[in-house]
Amino acid sequence: MSATLITNIQQLVNVREQSDLLCGSNMATLPCIENAFVLIEDGIVADYGAMYEVELKAPHLPKHIIDAQDSFVLPAWCDSHTHIVFAASRENEFIDKIKGISYAEIAARGGGILNSAQKLNDTTEDELFNQAWKRLQEVSQLGTGAIEIKSGYGLTVESELKMLRVIKRLKEKSNLLIKSTFLGAHTYPIQFKENHSEYIDSIVNEMLPVIAQDKLADYIDVFCETGFFSPEEMEAICKAGMRYGLKPKLHVNQLSSIGGIEMGLQLNAISLDHLETLTGEEINSLGNQNKQGKQTICTLLPTAAFFLRMGFPNARALMHAGCAIALASDFNPGSSPSGNMNLVLAMACIQMKMLPEEAINAATINGAFAMELGNQAGSITIGKKANFIFTKPIPSLAYLPYAFGSNLIDKVMINGEYV
Ligand code: NIG
Ligand code: FE
Repeated sequence: MSATLITNIQQLVNVREQSDLLCGSNMATLPCIENAFVLIEDGIVADYGAMYEVELKAPHLPKHIIDAQDSFVLPAWCDSHTHIVFAASRENEFIDKIKGISYAEIAARGGGILNSAQKLNDTTEDELFNQAWKRLQEVSQLGTGAIEIKSGYGLTVESELKMLRVIKRLKEKSNLLIKSTFLGAHTYPIQFKENHSEYIDSIVNEMLPVIAQDKLADYIDVFCETGFFSPEEMEAICKAGMRYGLKPKLHVNQLSSIGGIEMGLQLNAISLDHLETLTGEEINSLGNQNKQGKQTICTLLPTAAFFLRMGFPNARALMHAGCAIALASDFNPGSSPSGNMNLVLAMACIQMKMLPEEAINAATINGAFAMELGNQAGSITIGKKANFIFTKPIPSLAYLPYAFGSNLIDKVMINGEYV
């Protein structure tokens, strides 16, 4: 057995004896221990406490001791919504948007997701893997320890499977916790624009059976939006996925409110993501289901709203209604070309008025639950992975989202080892 003791931690953040999804006002409580230690055994949290207890709790000091030198130690970020497998960046569209063309117009003329699909079709599996691997290294150095990755830039049987195989290879090679989501229903390929049922048939009858057989995905996702997939189409696709054990995690209410939330709740989605456009009624139904003990999580993506110059999701109203909020990066080439969860945290506080405690909970424990990893990640809890962020010297925890432009991460640890 290999053991490591971390001593002299100025503040050990998000320490929980047992971890549950946090809803509504519970999101504001972030339990911390000042002047703390953590004992790691075989990459797992074995014990923790205040420094004065260390001799009692770890009587046989391990050989390997790390002096945290007054760092704050947090659970690594749990980024529950990304699209990091893509073939090329899209800064030309970024310029078009600066000139006043909207995201919807760019999509309508074959840019956007279709542009990415074209490029992905022309890129080999190895090249896609190498690019995605670099992005994974980048985000892990920025503190991400668990991540969900979607397909959705393939849009043909062959290319969707290619993307999912890349994600499978990332899972095998990386020591990060990775979940895979099938998003064949990201947009309609041009040839199916007028013939939706044929593309849905291909998803249901050609893609899903192979995905299930080769165990290529954990979840199913649909982009439910005006001009993309209707709630009824989303229902048909999700039900087909659910027959193979894929639970829904869905893109809803990014640009418009067309019934995606109601349908997502009926489908018992693990999470409903985006939510930039919300009616009061939708906020109430999201809150009521959490109050009834159901666990559909509202995953908010502030850097996507920022990049598309949209109104930010109403996090305060959602929490007031009793919802569980997770924060994620949406890292993708079209609407959020950044996987920096530190920036996500800052934007959630600055633009969405989440308290630092709420935002940290949303980016750790609730993010873990949005990937069904609540028993392995997202808090400092005995038995969970030793996936930690060590900060540079900071005066308080609130300094993290406050000093939004500084890199305040000193080191990142995954399974008890520095990355
Ligand atoms: O989550 N909204 C749909 N999908 C992505 C953007 C896709 C793209 O523009 O490439 C998102 O924002
Ligand atoms: Fe997305």
